[in-house]
Amino acid sequence: MSLPFDREEYLNRQESIFSKLPKSSLAIIPTNERKIRSNDVAYPFRANSYMLYLCGWEEDEGTLLATNLSGKWVTTLFVPDRDTTKEIWEGIRVGVDGAKSWPVDYTDSLQSLDSCIKELVSDGCRVFKIPGASSSLDISLDENNVVEDLRPYIDPIRRVKSTNEIQYMKEAASIASFAHEKAMRDSRPGMGEWEIQALVEGHFMSSLSQWSFPSIVGGGDNATVLHYKNNNQVIKSGDLVLVDAGCEVSGYASDITRTWPVNGKFSQPQREIYELVLRAELAGIEACQPGLPWFSMHEAVCEVIAEGLIELGVLNCTLEDALGRVEGKPGVFEGQIRNFFMHGTGHFLGLDVHDVGGGRQGDPNSSFLLEPGMVLTIEPGLYFGSWRNDILIPERYAGIGIRIEDDVLVTEQGPVVLSSMCPKMLDEIEQIVGKGAHD
Ligand code: GLY
Ligand code: MN
Ligand code: MN
Repeated sequence: MSLPFDREEYLNRQESIFSKLPKSSLAIIPTNERKIRSNDVAYPFRANSYMLYLCGWEEDEGTLLATNLSGKWVTTLFVPDRDTTKEIWEGIRVGVDGAKSWPVDYTDSLQSLDSCIKELVSDGCRVFKIPGASSSLDISLDENNVVEDLRPYIDPIRRVKSTNEIQYMKEAASIASFAHEKAMRDSRPGMGEWEIQALVEGHFMSSLSQWSFPSIVGGGDNATVLHYKNNNQVIKSGDLVLVDAGCEVSGYASDITRTWPVNGKFSQPQREIYELVLRAELAGIEACQPGLPWFSMHEAVCEVIAEGLIELGVLNCTLEDALGRVEGKPGVFEGQIRNFFMHGTGHFLGLDVHDVGGGRQGDPNSSFLLEPGMVLTIEPGLYFGSWRNDILIPERYAGIGIRIEDDVLVTEQGPVVLSSMCPKMLDEIEQIVGKGAHD
């Protein structure tokens, strides 16, 4: 067995979290549930990120329990028993004895979990868990048990990455950068969105990786649908394609968006919007400085977008009306720019693609400061869906959807773009698109 981190790193994480919980408490961390699609076919399983963070347990059943009864933290990992019949069908399990080499104090059978929790609760232990975690836990806790939220203890720790975590995130960013570049090289008009998806995800798979979220590949107007998922249309010459895709390395995600003209040449209107989104993205990255409030990047991005949309004649209003700052809510904008830039500027990135530890950019509850070791995305976009019937879409830009997204590490010296090897300058993209070998 080889886990992504050494024992000491897991034990340090456990100590920094569990030592802050009150005396006589019990923390319950189940992994995700295995979801059945039909009969004996299950949806692909991915272990729960809290479980991976705390002890690296990847099997599709298991619960970590941390207790403090005598002034010292003790962890027990409850796992499924070995079962030859099941193992013949689904593969060999680690079992209770095998799990002893995981970074925990004790291991036990999952069959003992329920009675163990009941006993601790009846002894008066305070219970902490992750809201929404596995419903199978509900058998151990009845409605009289007060259950407290474990997230405030874990999430602030998870959101600052260690050197080893950053190394995995660099690898994930590097694989995804190369996948995007490969897709650019092999792009040509008349290609199906699914073919670009296959190029990107094929590279993930051949790198022993996998997607960290379902890839978005939208040509033309489909690029204006923020979480487009059909990926089943042919992309015409003259259209842009937006590819938002990332992968995982040892559970750690990358998340990159690039937008390029499938025929290799930006039209003038596409160029105007691309240049504006790129300026906004660079301003957002520059604002990833330690000590600045979380919403600084959103503020920087929105200011560039507001000025740019006025300059291009898309908006005919004052800068303040374009922005629509909300009094008493710094970093929240509700002005006319929101007709064309509807989402946040970014999110934390880590074991989850939308990682824990803070609100999305622009959320009102995002009042903390940036610290070295945080990794986040910067991903402004502008969307002029020709299908919109609620607002006036300028003819010149109808059908254009552009987003540019990078993964950024905050350091003492300023922002470091982990996905910097993924091409994004206009000239660079025009030189690359279509240069791959076609049969
Ligand atoms: N892939 C979704 C996002 O960029 O947040
Ligand atoms: Mn993305
Ligand atoms: Mn993202």
